[in-house]
Amino acid sequence: MKLLTPLQIGELSLPNAIVMAPMTRFRANAQGEVGASTALYYAQRASAGLIVSEAINISAEGTNNPFVASIRTEAQIAGWQLVTQAVHDKGGLIFAQLLHTGRLGHSTDRQGILPFAPSAIAIEGQMSLTSQGSKPYEVPQALTLAQIQKTIADYRQAGEQARQAGFDGVELHGAFGYLPNQFLMESSNQRTDDYGGSIENRTRFVFEVMQNLVEVCGKHRVGIKLSPLTNINGMQDRHAVALYACLLEQLNGLPLAYLHFMNEAGQDVLGTFAALSQHLIIANGGYTRETGEQTLQAGKAHMISYGTAFVANPDLPTRFALNAPLNPTDTATLYTGGEKGYTDYPCL
Ligand SMILES: Cc1cc2nc3c(=O)[nH]c(=O)nc-3n(C[C@H](O)[C@H](O)[C@H](O)COP(=O)(O)O)c2cc1C
Repeated sequence: MKLLTPLQIGELSLPNAIVMAPMTRFRANAQGEVGASTALYYAQRASAGLIVSEAINISAEGTNNPFVASIRTEAQIAGWQLVTQAVHDKGGLIFAQLLHTGRLGHSTDRQGILPFAPSAIAIEGQMSLTSQGSKPYEVPQALTLAQIQKTIADYRQAGEQARQAGFDGVELHGAFGYLPNQFLMESSNQRTDDYGGSIENRTRFVFEVMQNLVEVCGKHRVGIKLSPLTNINGMQDRHAVALYACLLEQLNGLPLAYLHFMNEAGQDVLGTFAALSQHLIIANGGYTRETGEQTLQAGKAHMISYGTAFVANPDLPTRFALNAPLNPTDTATLYTGGEKGYTDYPCL
């Protein structure tokens, strides 16, 4: 099976083509620190070809929820060191997913400070799930040019700190309407300076962040997750194909580890976008053992990432090898905190 065939990303040797998709689990403490139980959770899943961590906040400005882990303070970095050590002890590899929420943040969980975004445009028709219950999204503060440079520097510093914490690489969370996605799409970016307007200008932020991450993390150590056709969190663009074609062409010029694409049911995301890239492609979104294998056999992607299946099946590669049944995922404990539904799923 191609899913079980080893492959190489730069100098990293992966035992199989099965990726654990990034998943926020709200198991950090109120200081955004992870500890022994998160180390155990990821170590249990270390037989994945590659683990992509839950989204990790890069800065106070980009934070939405206190129980989402961060990587800024010494204690936060030390927590991640426990995790990467535990994964490496089991022979696994782990990238850190870097997050800035942009306008998806809410002042309720930001000491009353409004979130920052490319433009002062709120998400319409959707509620924000804050620690004080559901509230309408707020009109964010438009980032100044100086704040954009500071944000790029924050990503760079998070890349450095991820290395320090022992991660094998980083993945920019460029999907699902978070800050990089907000810069790309016309529905959230109405700037009239170098970071808005034309397609080239709207891709500038993502490209500059990726350039900085490659500089600090190295060749084939940086990936990006993209969801070009996912209209979640107010993401809309009339020219999404041209926009992403422009971005992918620029990214072809960087020595990246991979591009991680979120597929959309009924849309040919891989055919439309991945085909334009020279990088290794990870496909994500609703894959089974069979559809994942078919996708690899058809040459549409090089690796497949699994989210919910990995939550409930720490030994997913073994189960695929044996064609064994999968544990069902308990959706009630995905975001609740605690060990239940986190470290207590059985292996075969
Ligand atoms: C509990 C949970 C948390 C998630 N958190 C993140 C996240 O932090 N970053 C991200 O890029 N995607 C996140 N996702 C999306 C997954 O990475 C993946 O795209 C999605 O689950 C589809 O893959 P699947 O069908 O194999 O589950 C999350 C999904 C779940 C179920």
